Amino acid sequence: MSGKILLVGNWKMHLNVSQASLLVQRLHERTRTHRNLEIVLAPTMLTLQPLSLQIDRRKFRLAAQNAYPKDEGPFTGEVSFTMLRDLVHYAIVGHSERRKFFHDDLPMVRDKVKAAVRNEITPILCVGETQHERREGLTRRVLHDQVTTALQNLTAREVMEVVVAYEPVWAISTFQGEYARPDDVAECMRYIRHQITQLYGEHVAQAVRVIYGGSVDGSTVRGYLELPECDGALVGHESINPYHFAAIIDAAYRMQVSQAHEA
Ligand code: PGA
Repeated sequence: MSGKILLVGNWKMHLNVSQASLLVQRLHERTRTHRNLEIVLAPTMLTLQPLSLQIDRRKFRLAAQNAYPKDEGPFTGEVSFTMLRDLVHYAIVGHSERRKFFHDDLPMVRDKVKAAVRNEITPILCVGETQHERREGLTRRVLHDQVTTALQNLTAREVMEVVVAYEPVWAISTFQGEYARPDDVAECMRYIRHQITQLYGEHVAQAVRVIYGGSVDGSTVRGYLELPECDGALVGHESINPYHFAAIIDAAYRMQVSQAHEA
């Protein structure tokens, strides 16, 4: 990690409007800002609008957890990226829960990435192998297919804006929640960048931010952030507790400060 750290809190389907508002207030009280730290909150769709009025924009940015790839039309129950474009900076796309529970397949993820970019929202593209795929030695193939398909319809310039979150499914708290060793994470992150290099060249691959997600907490976050390959973290479970998320932010902050002293 050398540049700005990106920390994203994915609240999943937790917290109603008033609980979300309270969490933001508590986080605001407990977090310091640093010019090299970007903190993004991904609440439910319902709470995006009220939180956009509440947050201190110098401290927090918002992300959608999902949206529909068509801009508008007869799609009952859906919200489009177009409708979110003034509300959010980022959108999580291809999260493993969406892939597993809502059958977001490779073309759907590709279309969502494209729709996000078309609406000037930065996609946080989640990729990662399941435990079964890992045991079968399929990790690279899975990452290859997920990365190359998702970026297929973007120009090189658009790819440079994308954030890729490497989230091994077996490390996410929803599934097995096992600890992923930073060395193994680094290897997969290098492979992801290698894929992007093959497709778009070194310059583009270096510009893409690659972050880690999967059971990150205040005690493990630094191990990932210290990896030269890693630009930040995507935090699920620990992001809905203000003390725990503040501890993660603080760990990143202290790492930035100590690196600045060393430089
Ligand atoms: P977790 O979730 O931190 O609870 O494992 C991460 C994610 O699902 O993005």
